[in-house]
Amino acid sequence: MALSKKPYKGTRDLYPPQKRAQNHLFDTMRKAAHSMGYEPYDGPLLEEVALYQAKSGDELIRDQIYSFTDRGDRFVAIRPEMTPTLARMVMGHHQQETKPIRLFSIPNLMRYEKPQKGRLREHWQFNCDIFGAPTMMGEVEILQMAINLLTSFGATSKQFEILINHREVVTNIFSDLMELDSQKVHALYKIIDRAKKVTKEELNKMITALSLTNRAELILTDYLQLSSFDQLILFLKQNKLEQQLAEVTLLVELASKLGIDQFLKFDPTIVRGLDYYTGLVFEIFDKNPDNPRAICGGGAYQNLLTIFGGPVMPAVGFGLGDVTLSDFLTTHGLMPDFTHPTSDIFISAQDSDAQIEVLKLAARLRQGGGLSVVTHPEPVKIKKAFPLAEKRGARFVALIGEQELTDGSVQIKNMATREQSTLKIKDQIEDIIKLIKL
Ligand code: HAM
Repeated sequence: MALSKKPYKGTRDLYPPQKRAQNHLFDTMRKAAHSMGYEPYDGPLLEEVALYQAKSGDELIRDQIYSFTDRGDRFVAIRPEMTPTLARMVMGHHQQETKPIRLFSIPNLMRYEKPQKGRLREHWQFNCDIFGAPTMMGEVEILQMAINLLTSFGATSKQFEILINHREVVTNIFSDLMELDSQKVHALYKIIDRAKKVTKEELNKMITALSLTNRAELILTDYLQLSSFDQLILFLKQNKLEQQLAEVTLLVELASKLGIDQFLKFDPTIVRGLDYYTGLVFEIFDKNPDNPRAICGGGAYQNLLTIFGGPVMPAVGFGLGDVTLSDFLTTHGLMPDFTHPTSDIFISAQDSDAQIEVLKLAARLRQGGGLSVVTHPEPVKIKKAFPLAEKRGARFVALIGEQELTDGSVQIKNMATREQSTLKIKDQIEDIIKLIKL
């Protein structure tokens, strides 16, 4: 039986139109990161499973990780996320680095998920993280980065929102106010994390199965009804959660002064599936219900270096996936058309004697003008040259034939205006470059 032409389930073959579109996302990500002083890094595709077992959470390990034992008997995994690798790398280097440490990367990750809209088994993820910034300064900067990225694609607060919560607030409510033991706290976290993915009835059923006391249920109901930062602040005041009150108040104040508050909304169901978060947590959602999956998720984690014997260090960051970002941009008409290639000029010979002149002219235009030049490897007649140039997305077409060889010239035609110029290759190369660059 012949082999299948399809890529492995949940992965994509990226042909030039798809890869051009992805490069557009990556270029914009790199620009956003660079504009805020984030430095690039990368890490290995494989890590020891123990790295994820330490603090990523049981869902990732139990259901999603691609793991195997290598020839040296090491139990390894294809990276399902970048944060543990980053923490390991920061641990190896942070003593020499000036704080805060700002880093970004765009790794491809693999998770064994049920492929569906917004979820594949392989995706690329823009990761931005800051280590060693004072609490809430790092958080606000990271939120600003995510906003800058999305707005640089042309998106507005009418199209996306950042839903925010605070892990310590949730832990305090679950363990101190509701008086749940650590097992129930963990179970309730997992239930709340699923709140947006299940119906209200299913949610209630899962909560009922926890057999909470009446008092705990009342507190939980009150908590789940909080729907704004004002209500949260009041709740924290009433329940004397002083430290979280100070942090949330500072966040709200900073966001308002920076003018990013219109993007932010408190949401009690945002708790994040990964175990290492310790402070602010957030997810970015498309306001259009056609894209219900989070575009981005992140939060603050101060204990990740401790798994390597390192210090507690404030850290905060996010991961933003290319699949969900592309769905978001397409839905809102913010994705340019990358179906066709683009180039500056297409050059062809009209007979075989001119072929070498084509290659020489192409080399001079690339070196002297930094132009994107596509040549044709065999002679073609004028009539055939134009459709070929069009296929390559060329803005100009140049032809060299017998006449041009005799007088050392080239005919250049603007594909849009159909204007034609004849220029001398030897003396007028600068003019040719100028004409094409215009
Ligand atoms: P995460 O929430 O697991 O966080 O993933 C972040 C984003 O990656 C998601 O919001 C989504 O856009 C994208 N994503 C995740 N899984 C898939 C998938 N199977 N298919 C398509 N897209 C997906 C993390 O991974 C954290 N390590 C992020 C982080 C960085 N936290 C702090 N720093």
